[in-house]
Amino acid sequence: MQELQVELGARSYPIYVGPGLLGQVDLVNRHVSGSRVAIVTNETIAPLYLAQLKAQLARFRPIEVVLPDGEQYKTLKVLDHIFTALLEAHCDRRTTVIALGGGVVGDMAGFAAAVYQRGISFIQVPTTLLSQVDSSVGGKTGVNHLLGKNMIGAFHQPRAVVIDTDTLATLPDRELSAGLAEVIKYGLIRDPEYLLWLERNTDRLLARDSATLTEAIIRSCRHKAEVVAADETETGQRALLNLGHTFGHAIETGMGYGAWLHGEAVAVGMVMAADLSHRLGWLSGHDVARIEALVRCARLPVRAPSAISPARFLELMSVDKKAINGHIRLILLKAIGQAVIVDDCPSAALEATLTAMRDPV
Ligand code: NAD
Ligand code: GLY
Repeated sequence: MQELQVELGARSYPIYVGPGLLGQVDLVNRHVSGSRVAIVTNETIAPLYLAQLKAQLARFRPIEVVLPDGEQYKTLKVLDHIFTALLEAHCDRRTTVIALGGGVVGDMAGFAAAVYQRGISFIQVPTTLLSQVDSSVGGKTGVNHLLGKNMIGAFHQPRAVVIDTDTLATLPDRELSAGLAEVIKYGLIRDPEYLLWLERNTDRLLARDSATLTEAIIRSCRHKAEVVAADETETGQRALLNLGHTFGHAIETGMGYGAWLHGEAVAVGMVMAADLSHRLGWLSGHDVARIEALVRCARLPVRAPSAISPARFLELMSVDKKAINGHIRLILLKAIGQAVIVDDCPSAALEATLTAMRDPV
């Protein structure tokens, strides 16, 4: 097992990475505060991993909250199921919520913990590649609104992140690829050497070679932990982690939550950001082609759905947490490994990207 630390002063916490961690008695337990735990998971993950985790936590009389599976259920309405279960079981402020699942479960369970009785502890046990490299670390929690992705939420840091790499064995191929989008993101925004490593190792990652996957998880978590430690609440550089996300969130909202996976939408978004960066004279054509080739190699889409017109894209993009007064803020690339926040993107260049990067079919 390897251990990293998210350095946030008194709220610092460990990230444990390794195989078989769900079966390690006392690993999750030692971060439980209070005498009760509530495990939040979903109907797909429960039959796979809930019993194993529950057995470890027996002395905390765990309650289970099993949510429906899917991005379309990441809503305030479904969140209420968690509150009902906690209240029915008389869970008090000393309860610890444990999120067992991907980013949807993690974001919802974390948000429930952030607001239940004005805030209780929680632990992340992520089971998708995407959640292991990104969403379980950093304390962003929340739900979607019909008008915009992740628009209702709170910052609430977990007490620990426990990444059992064995859980990736049951992850569908499409979800594995979706996780690779966020992995590629770190290389693009801050680590050209990591991008090179990814170009050389994508085949091994897709083949689920465990040493290669573990290395990718650790390198990605190290990036995430550094960025979060420097800018916990996104007043500055944390926004760079949103490379591709303004385009991507527009695709997710525009196509209906769940139609495109988050990682797929981010993948196209990153290729769109690369195209736009080239139009602004920053990235070379060679770099754009390199980024597109890597995204393709990870078996991810590289063109936006034709169902969303450029005008609709602009409308959707103006409802984004980074937008100020409806003004679109983008994360673009000056070079590979050098991301920047752009508030004044020329509209002609943006519209050219939105037009050029649509799937012709
Ligand atoms: P997800 O949570 O929907 O999980 C993907 C699918 O895999 C689901 O069907 C799930 O039930 C299934 N699954 C999970 N683990 C499994 C396993 N081990 N074996 C078999 N099936 C498994 O999707 P995701 O990609 O993990 O997360 C996407 C969500 O994360 C989005 O809502 C996105 O907005 C959010 N997100 C949040 C942050 C953050 O910082 N909080 C960052 C990135 C993404
Ligand atoms: N996934 C973006 C962030 O955590 O800031």
